[in-house]
Amino acid sequence: MTTIEVTNVVKRFEAFEALKGISVTLEQKRVGVVGSNGSGKSTFARLLNGLLLPTQGSVMIDGLDTAKAGKAIRRKVAFVFQNPDNQIVFPVVEEDVAFGLKGLKLPKAERDALVETVLSRYGLDQCRDQPAHTLSGGQKQLLAIAGALIMDPSCVVFDEPTTLLDLRNTRMITGVIRDLEQSVVVVAHDLTLLEDFDRILVFEDGRIVVDDEPSAALTRYVERMQ
Ligand SMILES: Nc1ncnc2c1ncn2[C@@H]1O[C@H](COP(=O)(O)OP(=O)(O)O)[C@@H](O)[C@H]1O
Ligand SMILES: [Mg+2]
Repeated sequence: MTTIEVTNVVKRFEAFEALKGISVTLEQKRVGVVGSNGSGKSTFARLLNGLLLPTQGSVMIDGLDTAKAGKAIRRKVAFVFQNPDNQIVFPVVEEDVAFGLKGLKLPKAERDALVETVLSRYGLDQCRDQPAHTLSGGQKQLLAIAGALIMDPSCVVFDEPTTLLDLRNTRMITGVIRDLEQSVVVVAHDLTLLEDFDRILVFEDGRIVVDDEPSAALTRYVERMQ
């Protein structure tokens, strides 16, 4: 299990304060993050694997500071974006899924075995030679997840992984996230994705305003939205 310690984090973009002093320690297997548009959810998510660094304060992953150990952190904590098109970097499925392995200099047989395992796990082995842009939305999101998992992270951060998907693919991706052995932090609009999570953080205007188990947190969130 991954321990994420966020201490007095302020994140500014020029003069704008997107996060206004966040302190939270996450040790649960599944943590959900909700809040209205612009409340700071994506900014928070991106701080967790060093995609963004805090303006003030610190983010520590299992004792490693994201500001000092970026490379090690990104192997520990994977990130899956809302729009898989932003994550697909190589034209062909098989190359794309192996992208993260490039820097590791693995023997070819080992690399191929990892690619094979992760592609067949998500039913993408049939499409391995297919151009990635010809996959369906759900398959693209699976490809993004496969590319994240091939690095064997201990935690995966998802930023609204189902927002662009239809109901069937939303259910499919929800199931995939539920079955992960890694700890997950999931930013979601779709609250049904989070109902059996261990803990929910509600963001409002750059702050965490509710931090509770799902039924209490989601009730209070819905009340605040009215
Ligand atoms: N790179 C950036 N430059 C300037 N402002 C940003 C940047 N990223 C986010 N913001 C602003 O920070 C606030 C929080 O954004 P974000 O974390 O994306 O919110 P959410 O994911 O909850 O919708 C928004 O007002 C947004 O416009
Ligand atoms: Mg967002």
